Amino acid sequence: MNPEKIEIFDTTLRDGEQVPGCKLNTEQKLVIAEKLDELGVDIIEAGFPISSPGDFYSVTEISKIVRNATVCGLTRANKKDIETAAEALKFAKKPRIHTGIGTSDNHIKFKFNSTREAVLERAIEAVKYAKTFVEDVEFYAEDAGRTDNEFLAKVCEEVIKAGATVLNIPDTTGYCLPEQYGAKMKYLRENVKGIEKAVLSCHCHNDLGLATANSISGVINGARQIECTINGLGERAGNTALEEVVMILRQHKDLNLDTNINSKMLNEMSLMVSELMGMPVQPNKAIVGSNAFAHSSGIHQDGVIKNRETYEIIDPAEVGVNESSIVLTARSGRSALAYRFKNIGFDVTKNELDYLYQEFLKIADTKKEVVNEDLQVMMATFSQKS
Ligand code: KIV
Ligand code: ZN
Repeated sequence: MNPEKIEIFDTTLRDGEQVPGCKLNTEQKLVIAEKLDELGVDIIEAGFPISSPGDFYSVTEISKIVRNATVCGLTRANKKDIETAAEALKFAKKPRIHTGIGTSDNHIKFKFNSTREAVLERAIEAVKYAKTFVEDVEFYAEDAGRTDNEFLAKVCEEVIKAGATVLNIPDTTGYCLPEQYGAKMKYLRENVKGIEKAVLSCHCHNDLGLATANSISGVINGARQIECTINGLGERAGNTALEEVVMILRQHKDLNLDTNINSKMLNEMSLMVSELMGMPVQPNKAIVGSNAFAHSSGIHQDGVIKNRETYEIIDPAEVGVNESSIVLTARSGRSALAYRFKNIGFDVTKNELDYLYQEFLKIADTKKEVVNEDLQVMMATFSQKS
């Protein structure tokens, strides 16, 4: 049975760019948008056109160059935002307006000083108005993670009637547990009349480190779109990381869900975004961190040298990394040392290795990592002695 498709909605250029210090200029955004299109994302959220003339211009220019993906612009639930987004998206082959409003009591009371009824009215009006410009209208119920399910279902039902094609259920504050977020999706699937006319979308933030887990729980429970960013960039602790959800679905074939992403581009995509945004990727970041395929303890190294699959669930080539690395540290064993000597052209006998290993440990205890140059010096000294 063919896997069901999960749409990847990339918001690196909108939610991702909201990170302090990560501001990009239009030229940089165009480079990223082109690469995202090549990567195979289904939707590129290009920006929030009313937020600044620069962002308006970026969304306009991105709309002109993207060939395959839908190009999306964010708005609040008001006419001016929607008109501006429609104008910025006018060159897009496949334009989408992403409009919405906060639906939790917290947002209704403190942000809008309003009522559930008035917010519902604004939601319906916004979708109807966006629909006069484009066919594809996504509605976000901001802070859906903390919104009462019954009210959220009512909002979803009404915006579908107004023409929404996608329903974004953001866990804006990263509050939900995976079971809670999944249960919310299930509740909406079972209680919203007309739900079959719209796609449910996961939009999770990482305040408790659960953005990826929540998004996966969302799709297991019926959502068919995931909103995410390269390297998990985003407000505060970030958004769901694109590379993580893509590889989770590839690894867990039993879920029978997959995306269109060309995973072999994930590493270069991550490096490019990190460089352009000036945001280093933490070394132990899943999938794209520099240590994601590095092995440094003796037991692990011995296993990986015998068979990669002993300690790796992903073939590094699948994500565009040439090969796993065997890092030499004071925790490394003889087999890793022999392997690295072999890599630089020295085949050592068992007796030679026993001696060299003791020499190696003396050096390893003095530094974080023993590199090829250290091995060359060790070998030169050893050759002179013998
Ligand atoms: O986190 C959020 O709620 C958002 C919406 C504006 C979609 O980013
Ligand atoms: Zn967000």
